[in-house]
Amino acid sequence: MNGEALRSVDLRKTYLSRGTPPVEALSGVSMQVHRGERVALLGRNGAGKTTFLKIASTLLRPTSGRVEVFGIDIADTPDRARPYIAVVPQEGKPFFHLTPREQIYTYLRARGFGREVAKARTEGALERMGLTGFADRLSITLSGGQRQRTMVATVIATEAPLLFLDEPTIGMDPFARREVWASLRALTQRGSTILLTTHYLDEAEVLSDRLYIVEHGNVLSSGTADELKRSVGGTLKVLIADGASQVERFRSFGTCVTDGLSLTVVVSPSTLSEVMDLVTRSGMTATVGPVTLEEAFLRAVGRSINED
Ligand SMILES: Nc1ncnc2c1ncn2[C@@H]1O[C@H](COP(=O)(O)OP(=O)(O)OP(=O)(O)O)[C@@H](O)[C@H]1O
Ligand SMILES: [Mg+2]
Repeated sequence: MNGEALRSVDLRKTYLSRGTPPVEALSGVSMQVHRGERVALLGRNGAGKTTFLKIASTLLRPTSGRVEVFGIDIADTPDRARPYIAVVPQEGKPFFHLTPREQIYTYLRARGFGREVAKARTEGALERMGLTGFADRLSITLSGGQRQRTMVATVIATEAPLLFLDEPTIGMDPFARREVWASLRALTQRGSTILLTTHYLDEAEVLSDRLYIVEHGNVLSSGTADELKRSVGGTLKVLIADGASQVERFRSFGTCVTDGLSLTVVVSPSTLSEVMDLVTRSGMTATVGPVTLEEAFLRAVGRSINED
């Protein structure tokens, strides 16, 4: 098993359904995920993230293009690729008539693990995902976040070489999210590779080695969080309340974005004091913070929307 964990080449998907126009969900996506990497797909609703994950995990056939999982062409031989893959689908639910303990154990047995290994891994995953207190309750009786934890625990327990997680932390509290992050980090330290989607940009930033921003079925940009943030043009943002009407006075300092009445100016540390002087002289107030992945995302996708 040499090469990348995952490679897609010019992947296209057009959904055809009777009576409605075709939907081009992927328009030529090429990407690579290296072994041991954690990579996040970011994109607006309908950008094509789930479609990509479904195809890459053998659940959906592409219209054209190629995907390889550990060098195995998944269109030719999906059965050969499947043992290397585990998936948390978007909006997946645990079996309502099984308990979390039963579900995880049964899934591991179905994947071919022996009794002892399946039992030990089940207990480990229940513990890591904070499920021990609910492990023997039918999943139908669990809260939304507890069900989602069960889904993630089931897949984490496989320790599969390549994990696909489609919005894995949706509905989870901040503590549970951090448990997922720690578990995913531990898995990649032991050699697994992870491709996930998320709408939580803080999560994408702390969890991913690299990110792909997808829009309208195309990759808009990719890189580390720091590389994407650098594309915004500065490392600090100055948020000026009621500054929108004064935007022209700030343009020379850096990228300006208005949002209702407020104005955000992206600056470098060397120009910060000049901007703050102007804010004070103009009788306005401002707060200063670091540029985040959110600005990089809004800029990349916002530009693409404006170009349309
Ligand atoms: N079975 C289907 N039939 C027709 N169109 C579909 C089907 N599944 C998805 N689509 C369309 O394909 C596009 C991409 O959908 P996809 O689910 O991949 O987006 P996404 O990036 O995962 O969005 P979200 O963030 O909302 O989960 C959307 O326009 C969607 O409406
Ligand atoms: Mg989706």
